[in-house]
Amino acid sequence: MTMPVPARSDVLIIGGGLIGLATAWRTAARGISVTLCDPAPGTNASFAAAGMLTPVTELHYGEETLLGLNLASAKRYPSFVAELREASGGLDPGYTEAGTLAVAFDADDREVLSELHVFQQSLGLKAEWLSGREARRLEPMLAPGVRGGLLVSGDHQVDNRMLLAALFAALERDPNATIVRTKVAELTVSAAGDRATGVVLEDGTALSADQVVLSAGCWSGQIAGIPAELLPPVRPVKGQILRLAVPDVFKPFLSRTVRYVVRNNHAYLVPREHGELVLGATVEEQDYDTAVTAGGVYELLRDARELVPGITELPLIESRAALRPGTPDNAPLIGPTALPGLLYATGHYRHGVLLTPATADGVAEILATGTVPEALAPFSPQRFAVPGMRPGRVRRNER
Ligand code: GLY
Repeated sequence: MTMPVPARSDVLIIGGGLIGLATAWRTAARGISVTLCDPAPGTNASFAAAGMLTPVTELHYGEETLLGLNLASAKRYPSFVAELREASGGLDPGYTEAGTLAVAFDADDREVLSELHVFQQSLGLKAEWLSGREARRLEPMLAPGVRGGLLVSGDHQVDNRMLLAALFAALERDPNATIVRTKVAELTVSAAGDRATGVVLEDGTALSADQVVLSAGCWSGQIAGIPAELLPPVRPVKGQILRLAVPDVFKPFLSRTVRYVVRNNHAYLVPREHGELVLGATVEEQDYDTAVTAGGVYELLRDARELVPGITELPLIESRAALRPGTPDNAPLIGPTALPGLLYATGHYRHGVLLTPATADGVAEILATGTVPEALAPFSPQRFAVPGMRPGRVRRNER
């Protein structure tokens, strides 16, 4: 049955990746009416992702502020998925607490891992240094030559495809939520240019709302009608990712997520409970190209084989490329913009799955109360505002 499209809602969300869907769920659960627009929700980066919840092993220099939000979101995961299971009518969102092991291939790679360990310790994070032999005892499929490892028992994973299915089910059951499977053509702004008023869909339908949330991932900067000076600085960062099947005879192939460095190339293997093994991912600045290339697949398999030689026995069942929404400082844009009624929840780059609970809860709180939670303050979209520029009139898109 096709649901009627509400011409007016309290909140409109542009983009149905994990961030948009979860924000819609958390907002609708507060009794606020929400319409989410996306021609193909849950099919891009959120579907391709590996689902690592690894704030400690995926730590990068200069991202200490982001680390705080990453840790808070990881901590929220168990209760978030418990609430989602209930809201979805009992669907399993696929959250697993099995820890993460980071391993190094050669002496130089061990140096990279050792520096990461020093950095983690300087920030008070829990990570245990292991010899190569100790790492192999935990994961016997690792190559005998592996040079050392870091065990992070608090870094987990979620099956992002199960999480998406649970979110769709929860939204379906919530009378305050509507998903419209049509592309947004443009944002509309009041005649005075002083607030966002809604969107126009590709088929010409106008939808109005008190507040509009932009969560269109790497396409967020391409929505017509957003005043030029407010366009979010997001860009696509391509990731090629593979999925392999683990036949029963090889189980358990790996017992936890294994992140690794091979000749200074970083990659990861994420085993799913139902027998899939996710191998990712390239990081490529290729604009909006999503071709799976022979070179990308070769590099992923070449490095994985060095670390886990048995991988060559596994059936390759999927290869795909998707686009992470990168930002100039690798941190997301979450919160109100300088245009009243327009909020951003985008630019999550490498941490979209991890940051789903913190973003969804935080944006729902802003939508309901107008107050930005303290934890989100550093991620205000307004940090990229050009000094002295204010949102101007938008003639073409006035409604
Ligand atoms: N966080 C994993 C990736 O971006 O590939």
